[in-house]
Amino acid sequence: MRKKTSELIGNYEVTDAGAVTRREMLVMGAVAATAAAVGGIGAQAAVINPAPGAEPYAAKDFSDLTAKKLEGISAGQIEQHLKLYQGYVKKSNEIYSKLKDVDITSANATYSPLRELLMEQSYAVNGAVYHEFYFGNLGGKDGEPSGELRAALEERWGSTSKFMDFLKAAGKSMRGWVIIGYNTRAGHLDAFGLDFHNMWSPANTVPLLVLDVYEHAYMIDYGIDRGKYLDAFARNLDWDVVAKRFTGIKTHPSGPDTTA
Ligand SMILES: [Fe+2]
Repeated sequence: MRKKTSELIGNYEVTDAGAVTRREMLVMGAVAATAAAVGGIGAQAAVINPAPGAEPYAAKDFSDLTAKKLEGISAGQIEQHLKLYQGYVKKSNEIYSKLKDVDITSANATYSPLRELLMEQSYAVNGAVYHEFYFGNLGGKDGEPSGELRAALEERWGSTSKFMDFLKAAGKSMRGWVIIGYNTRAGHLDAFGLDFHNMWSPANTVPLLVLDVYEHAYMIDYGIDRGKYLDAFARNLDWDVVAKRFTGIKTHPSGPDTTA
């Protein structure tokens, strides 16, 4: 039985000084690992709401994207995409709730309710968080990177133009996501791609620029012509948001080398 909440540690509520049950530790550890893998500054920590009795995940409001009239990405496309995102938030809450009462005595690595919940938790939570990064870095108008961000991109890819060519090529290579992140361990920008929300996220790399290449992101506007969508994404990329995330993670690195 959970005791009355007395304090907060990090993003999580605990009962009293260290009085967290083994089951709660398991849940917390899984959620924390997911957040660390995808989040940090840019994860926009509002996704975790520790208030007692409240659902832990709340969908963020990106309705302003339809009002901004993105060039080449229609309001109807964004509206449908936002419904998908809200579904991930809803499932994240459902899984979080079920993990509180899951039968841990039947734990099994081939099949068990606990295994399934932990696996799908990473899919649902990452599905929500990556979409928040994605919607969050839309809304610019034919911008370009500047300052430290531009310098970091040029150091890694040679020039902004070469970086954009790489980004679009990566967008054609993956089935789900392309992510440009800051590797807090190595201290440089890195790129990674995902076919699923919960596969192939390198540790210690915090997303800065997130590109959704699932067909649902562009099918309404472009059918199967992903190339035109990638051009539209580039035109609507909000470099100020990416720069803000970059500054944030460099100022408060969430994942230094903690393996020592
Ligand atoms: Fe999506």
